[in-house]
Amino acid sequence: MHEFKYKNNRLYCENVKVEDLAKKYGTPLYVYSYHTLVSHYLKLKEAFRSIDALICYSVKANSSLAILKALVDKGAGLDIVSGGELFRAQKAGCPAGRIVYASVGKTDSEIEEAIRRGILFFNVESLPELENINRIAKKLNQVTRVAIRINPDVEAKTHKFITTGKITNKFGIDLDNAYKILLQRRKFPFVKICGLHIHIGSQITESAPFVAAVKKITDFILHLRRIGIALEYLNIGGGLGIVYNRESPQTAQKYADKIIPYLKKTGLKIILEPGRFIVGNAGILVAKVLYLKSTPKKKFLIIDAGMNDLIRPALYGAYHQILPLRITPNALRKAQKVDVVGPICESGDFLAKERKIPQVKEGEYLAAMSAGAYGFSMSSNYNSRPRAQELLVVKDKAYVIRRRETRDDLIHNEVIPEFFIGL
Ligand code: LLP
Repeated sequence: MHEFKYKNNRLYCENVKVEDLAKKYGTPLYVYSYHTLVSHYLKLKEAFRSIDALICYSVKANSSLAILKALVDKGAGLDIVSGGELFRAQKAGCPAGRIVYASVGKTDSEIEEAIRRGILFFNVESLPELENINRIAKKLNQVTRVAIRINPDVEAKTHKFITTGKITNKFGIDLDNAYKILLQRRKFPFVKICGLHIHIGSQITESAPFVAAVKKITDFILHLRRIGIALEYLNIGGGLGIVYNRESPQTAQKYADKIIPYLKKTGLKIILEPGRFIVGNAGILVAKVLYLKSTPKKKFLIIDAGMNDLIRPALYGAYHQILPLRITPNALRKAQKVDVVGPICESGDFLAKERKIPQVKEGEYLAAMSAGAYGFSMSSNYNSRPRAQELLVVKDKAYVIRRRETRDDLIHNEVIPEFFIGL
């Protein structure tokens, strides 16, 4: 499933000993496996081969240029949500015709830029947004394509912060209003409504919510066809769950087998927008143990990575497996329940709570597993901590894909007003 494995009691990424990387490049350090990344993309591509789906990798999951380039070179398109992600998509060499653009809050300049670049289509999330895209396209005298994002009102059975397909969520347009918009489509002459889009949430481990949503949208498409509204694309979003702990998520093949019969009925070109499934298990966050601290009630393992490097545990109570980079039978025997915490001044700054971890000494290293998705991309400079370095391992070689930030990077855009100087 992934290329992070112990050999002779040392954790390896592909053929590289992770401890050597930690010593050479310092910590906190993100390490990605090229082979894991690409093989997850290919697994999904293969599962949907019978309908030749376009896989638009969701840039927000991990937007590092080298990650994007690796996938784009294998034929992936990209799912973007901002002008910044459009910029990255271009830098990674993604053809505009393979870019789809979602987000409830696209600005005028972002819309204009995307139209000029000729992206495949916008995923439109509201009527005012559709009107705005039409207005901007008219100004540019260029007809642009959109897909209506439908909110299918299904329960995704995942964390409430990452559920997006319930009618109380801010995303998409309900079926009734989408229908009204489609009937009035001639009111928007500079917009061609060429498809529909759904995305019901993230880290969804069962097939049932996907099937429910796809079934609803298929019925809708067939109805539209009967009344003479023909579409070209159906974008079924992302959301496929991965293994963090003891989940047993559907495989790519099982997911495909369950929904392809419905997708085939639509006769439309199918697009997927997976993020986590492709990159989640392809990355780890490596940290050094700074101190072992015992209090009357608890044992803390204080490490040099914090919630600014990986915020998922603090934000969602997410589970990441914690593995030592070196493991001995003795250390395993002496495993203890500890809180693995960072140096940040917040009690929410933890990577694991009450977790049984093999004995480690100060100066040794730990890895937070499955940190490839929504790890670095959600990192920040909180507590004025430079953001981590990122490496991509390909077989027996590690490439720096992002240098560690420096102190100067921290204050790069800051200005002390001259006003203070005279004081
Ligand atoms: N398409 C749309 C429209 C999305 O909003 C998202 C994710 C995706 C695709 C990709 O979803 P994926 O395949 O990665 O599940 N920060 C959270 C996850 C937020 C997901 C946001 N939208 C986390 O760390 O769990």
